[in-house]
Amino acid sequence: MTLESNSATAVVGLQWGDEGKGKLVDLLAGRFDAVVRYNGGANAGHSVVVAGERYALHLVPSGILSPGVKAVIGNGVVIDPQRLFEEIATLSERGVDTSQLVVSDRAHVVMPYHKAEDALREELLSGSVREGQSQSKGVINAIGTTKRGIGPAYADKVQRATAVRVGDLLQPEVLREKLEMICSLKNGIFSALRPEGHEPFDAYALTQQYSELGQKLSPMIQDTAYLLDDLRRAGGEILFEGANATMLDVDHGTYPYVTSSNASALGIGPGSGVPPQSIGRIIGVVKAYCTRVGGGPMPTELFDATGDAIRERGREYGTTTGRPRRVGWLDLVALKYAAMISGATELCITLLDVLAGESELKLATGYESPNGKTSRFIADACTLSEATPIYETMPGFSQDITGVRTFDELPAQAQAYVERIEEFVGVRVGIISVGPDREQTIIRS
Ligand code: GDP
Ligand code: IMO
Ligand code: MG
Repeated sequence: MTLESNSATAVVGLQWGDEGKGKLVDLLAGRFDAVVRYNGGANAGHSVVVAGERYALHLVPSGILSPGVKAVIGNGVVIDPQRLFEEIATLSERGVDTSQLVVSDRAHVVMPYHKAEDALREELLSGSVREGQSQSKGVINAIGTTKRGIGPAYADKVQRATAVRVGDLLQPEVLREKLEMICSLKNGIFSALRPEGHEPFDAYALTQQYSELGQKLSPMIQDTAYLLDDLRRAGGEILFEGANATMLDVDHGTYPYVTSSNASALGIGPGSGVPPQSIGRIIGVVKAYCTRVGGGPMPTELFDATGDAIRERGREYGTTTGRPRRVGWLDLVALKYAAMISGATELCITLLDVLAGESELKLATGYESPNGKTSRFIADACTLSEATPIYETMPGFSQDITGVRTFDELPAQAQAYVERIEEFVGVRVGIISVGPDREQTIIRS
């Protein structure tokens, strides 16, 4: 058995999420033996359109739609078992074979108190800013989370003693002991912060409920680090499916307006157990403009009719929460930074078709900030919220490009726009998406 290094591929978002990762993963998945989620949880919403049928995937890797491909939920994911079973049921009802789904025994479990904590924390923080309000300044505003319990579940993972892993669900005694201690802690916190109206978490009931969920999950549970190593040693090829995105990475994104995992490509190693040198191709997915959901700075945000028109044409409403997405011009400064952090070897530009009809296209190539002019990204949310973009303007295009399948067929203005992006970022654009369907894709030779 030889271990072919460098053979794994990763698909990772380079903005604030919803770049079209699901579409790209689905397009590529059939060539791989396994598609692996390594971070996030049900905060992700990956839409895939196959033969006109739209699927929304949250916890299940998008590779599930490719028959015979293993769909692996790695140890870095936080799993809400109830949501997972709902998703499996929806897929099964639509005729999707879910027998290839595997779940890591070391993934952490999102429990009901995590969702309650997420909601409570957001409520406590929301005094100073309306949810979804743009350009939130300071560090004490609501984050605008998906309220899926993601932050509290990752916080407990790092706290260690207050965490439940998937493997614990198969050991009722261990689970009971943990939950007794956890529930007494959580009940103490909730009754202090919400003296009236707090229904205590019951360790006994939760042990029963989650042991049952564990039994249901048990056929899917494996040590996925060994599973992936065995697969690689047998010559198998792995595709990593990033959730959320680089600018939402807990270490390198617009902290604190981020998610709670390493959502850049840097999270692959810890979130899957597959070593970094095994990844030879990292495809950074980028929308032809910017969107963001929830709070936090977004220097190129549009508040005018252009922003509204792009939102409507791009159907920019969240796959997970249905919230309208904030829309702005493409921020090349942020993109170049994200490509650097995620080590993108190639770019995939998506939703280029949505820009059709704009007479001019703007690209941010620098910022004017209180500390002066810069062409470097400002990863501090407070300072970034004070920065204004320096724009370069390019001519737009009016033609419908959803039927275009080669680069040369694109209008000259669209070609120039793509070429300017690759020149600024210094990474080649290998794939261009011009519609949600698998076929609506240009692969550049
Ligand atoms: P993800 O979270 O990165 O997988 O992205 P989402 O699925 O949340 O959001 C992307 C949306 O854009 C979905 O509704 C896709 O069906 C759609 N989409 C993907 N690529 C394209 C494209 O090239 N053009 C258009 N018009 N829509 C696209
Ligand atoms: P996909 O995989 C867009 C955002 C939330 C919020 C912040 C923190 O579909 O691209 P969380 O619930 O994770 O604590 O929320 O991160 N966010 C996303 N925005 N797409 C996503 O995933 C996101 N995952 C998290 O809106 O601002
Ligand atoms: Mg999404």
